[in-house]
Amino acid sequence: LDGGTLPWDLAGKRVVVTSGGTREEIDPVRFLGNRSSGKQGHAIAAVAAARGAQVTLVTSSDLPVPAAVEAIRIDSALEMRDATLSAAADADVVIKAAAVADFRPTDVSSSKLKKDSGSEPAQIRLERNPDILAGLVAAHASGEIPAGCVLVGFAAETGDSTGSVLEHGRAKLARKGCDLLVVNEVGRGTTFGQDVNGGWILDAAGGEVSVDRASKDLLASRILDAVVSWAAAPSA
Ligand code: CTP
Ligand code: CA
Repeated sequence: LDGGTLPWDLAGKRVVVTSGGTREEIDPVRFLGNRSSGKQGHAIAAVAAARGAQVTLVTSSDLPVPAAVEAIRIDSALEMRDATLSAAADADVVIKAAAVADFRPTDVSSSKLKKDSGSEPAQIRLERNPDILAGLVAAHASGEIPAGCVLVGFAAETGDSTGSVLEHGRAKLARKGCDLLVVNEVGRGTTFGQDVNGGWILDAAGGEVSVDRASKDLLASRILDAVVSWAAAPSA
């Protein structure tokens, strides 16, 4: 990152970023996870710090922590929720780049599950995790998060028979109730673990910016540009 070419437009702002895929414990040696590497969230944290923000990164990723960023390491969605909600209490911006597991094992075994303990493979029962972004939107509405705080969600979409990647993204923004939504196409070999990313940045007023596939640092800059203009808009 070349800080010299970046605007110093986030000076004094508190930015909370979540990154990585959560890990939901099955037993002491196993977890349910996903393909998120944490690269995009880490890039946002790095660029926000280089633009002057005080950044807290709540992460399950093993990537190195970017310069001048405070990292809180967590594993599960429940741990991420607690750390994110408390960090958000005095935040100006919260960016939820993490791939949060929608479900977690209902029962966590305190000892390693053994293959010879039964004749059938064990069934892993799942229950729903809380939606952290929905929790942030509710906390914002009830005043637990500062009124001017900008909430940014991500949408990991593959597209399917019911709609394209962008259509799913628009519906998700309306459903989530956040201010901005970054829509990514995901799948094996696209986005996850890669150094490039692209997509759309949608805002709650109907605005839409398309970002060509480029470095995750460049998408990070475009997202922070969108945050700065949203915060300056009369509707925010
Ligand atoms: N998210 C969250 N808590 C969850 C699940 C998702 O905060 N338990 C956040 C993600 O960090 C992301 C946004 O919600 O910013 C959208 O995540 P995504 O998985 O795309 O959407 P879901 O609402 O979980 O819907 P689905 O997986 O069914 O598409
Ligand atoms: Ca999900």
